Amino acid sequence: MNFSEELKHPVFRAIGSVADKKGVEAYAIGGFVRDLLLARPSKDIDIVVEGSGIALARDVAQSLHAGKVTVFKRFGTAMFRHGGCEIECVGARKESYQRDSRKPIVEDGTIEDDQLRRDFTINALAIRLNSDGFGELIDPFGGLKDLEQKLIRTPLDPDVTFSDDPLRMLRAIRFASQLGFKIEDEALEAIRRNSRRLEIISSERIHVELNKILLSRKPSVGFKLMFKTELLHVFFPEMVALHGVERRNGIGHKDNFYHTLEVVDNVAVGSDNLWLRWAALLHDIAKPPTKRFHPDHGWTFHGHEDRGARMVPKIFKRLKLPLDHQMKYVQKLVLLHLRPIALTKEEVTDSAVRRLLFEAGDDVDDLMLLARADITSKNEAKVERYLRNYDVVVRKLVEVEEKDRVRNFEPPISGEQIMKALDIPPCRPIGAIKNLIKDAILDGLIANEPEAANRLLMHHGPQILSQWNSLQDQVSAGKMNEVEARESFDAWLEGVEVLPTPSSRP
Ligand code: CTP
Repeated sequence: MNFSEELKHPVFRAIGSVADKKGVEAYAIGGFVRDLLLARPSKDIDIVVEGSGIALARDVAQSLHAGKVTVFKRFGTAMFRHGGCEIECVGARKESYQRDSRKPIVEDGTIEDDQLRRDFTINALAIRLNSDGFGELIDPFGGLKDLEQKLIRTPLDPDVTFSDDPLRMLRAIRFASQLGFKIEDEALEAIRRNSRRLEIISSERIHVELNKILLSRKPSVGFKLMFKTELLHVFFPEMVALHGVERRNGIGHKDNFYHTLEVVDNVAVGSDNLWLRWAALLHDIAKPPTKRFHPDHGWTFHGHEDRGARMVPKIFKRLKLPLDHQMKYVQKLVLLHLRPIALTKEEVTDSAVRRLLFEAGDDVDDLMLLARADITSKNEAKVERYLRNYDVVVRKLVEVEEKDRVRNFEPPISGEQIMKALDIPPCRPIGAIKNLIKDAILDGLIANEPEAANRLLMHHGPQILSQWNSLQDQVSAGKMNEVEARESFDAWLEGVEVLPTPSSRP
C-alpha cells in the first residue's frame, strides 16, 4: 500500500533524498503514521533511519534551510522545526529491558527491530521515504487492519510489551478513550495481571496520560477501564473509594464513582477546559470520608465540598500536577459546587446570588456548568425540577451581575481613601471598615458605588475607630493584652448593624 499522496509536507522528499545520498533507509514512523491514516492532524513527525539520526537531521535541516537543530546526544536523537512541524530523527534501535528498570539496553538495529520494540501495532506502522518505494507502508504486525477494526494490540506478547515499559498499560487505555478503540482481550487481561508494575512509573508520566484521558470525548471510557484493570488503584485510591453502594435498613446511596464519571462526561460535552474536567472528577472526592448513616434521614455527606477542596492539594501534589492557579481553580470549584443548586432550594435572593458571584468571580460560568452537569438523577421528575430551578438561578445571576457587577468585585473605596477621610494612620479598623462596606454591598444594603460607600464610611467609621481606640487605651493601661483587644474588637464588629443611610440603598 502506498501513501505518497498523503505525504504533502516537503520535509518527506527532502529526507528521502538525503537518505538516498547517504545510502541509508529512512522511514516516518509511530504516532505520526497512525494519525495520518486516521486523518487526525499531527505536527510531530518521527523519523527513523537505519544509521545516525543526528547526521540525517543536520543534513536535512541544511538542505531545507530550516532552523536550528537541537541534538540530544544521550538519546541519539535530533530535532528541528520546519513548515509548522517538529521533526525528530533517531537511528533505528533494538531495545531490551531488565525487570526492575525502565532503562533499556539499546543497540543499533533494523527498521523491523525498531517496529518490534514499539507499544502497539497501530503505533508500529512505518512509511518508507527513500525515493525507491517512497510512501510504501511497512506493516509487519497488521497495524493497518487493527486501525480499521479499531483494535489496540501489542506487537509482542503483551506481558513482554507491558513489562518493557509499564506506562504502556495506561497508554493502551488512553488510546482506547481518545480514539474510541477496543483493547484486545489478551492485552486487557495482561494489563490487569501487570497493573502493580505501574508503581515504577513516575507521576509526571502518569499524569500526562491521565490528562489525555480526561481530554478525550468521553473520559468515562478510560476511567472505567482503569478501574476494571486496577491501574487506578495504583495511583488514585481516593477515586477507587468512590466506588460501590452501601445499604442499611434497606436504604442505599448512589454509586459515587459512576456518578462522578457521568458528571465528567457531561462537563466534557460543554467544555474542553482540562481543569474544569478535573474539578468534575474531584467534586465528590470527599464523599467516602464524610459518609454517615442516620436512622431517620438516611445517608449524608455533610461538608464533603469543604473536605474535598482540602483534599485537592494532596492529590495534585502526589500526581505532580501544577500547584498554582490551576489547582486553586479546581479547589474553588470543588468548594462551591453545591452552591448553585443550594440556591434553588430556598428563595433565590439577590443577596445570595451576589455572594455567589463574589466568591466565584470570573469562574462563575464554569461553576454553573459543573453544577448543571452534577444533575444526574434517574428520577426524571426530579431532574426536571432541578433544571427548572437551575434556570431560575442562571437568570438571576445575569440580572444581578448586570445591575451590581460584583463578579470582579473591587472595593469602591480604597484603604488609602479611608485613612484620608478619617485622618488615621494604617491600623486594624481600616480593614474592618472595608469589610463592612463589602458586606453591605453583597447584602444589597448599599449600591456598589463610591458615593454610597463613602456615606457608609462616614456613618460607621468614627464609631468603629472609637471602639478600637478605647480597646487600645485598655491595652496601654495593662487591662488586656493585644490579642485580647483584637478578639474583643472582632466580636464587637460582628454585632455592628449596618444602618442604611439616606439614599444609600441600591
Ligand atoms: N512509544 C512506545 N512506548 C511508549 C511510548 C512511545 O513504543 N511508552 C512509541 C510508539 O511507537 C509511539 C511513538 O513511540 O507511537 C511516539 O510516542 P509519543 O510521541 O509519546 O506518542 P504518540 O504515539 O505519538 O501519541 P501522542 O502524540 O498522542 O502522544
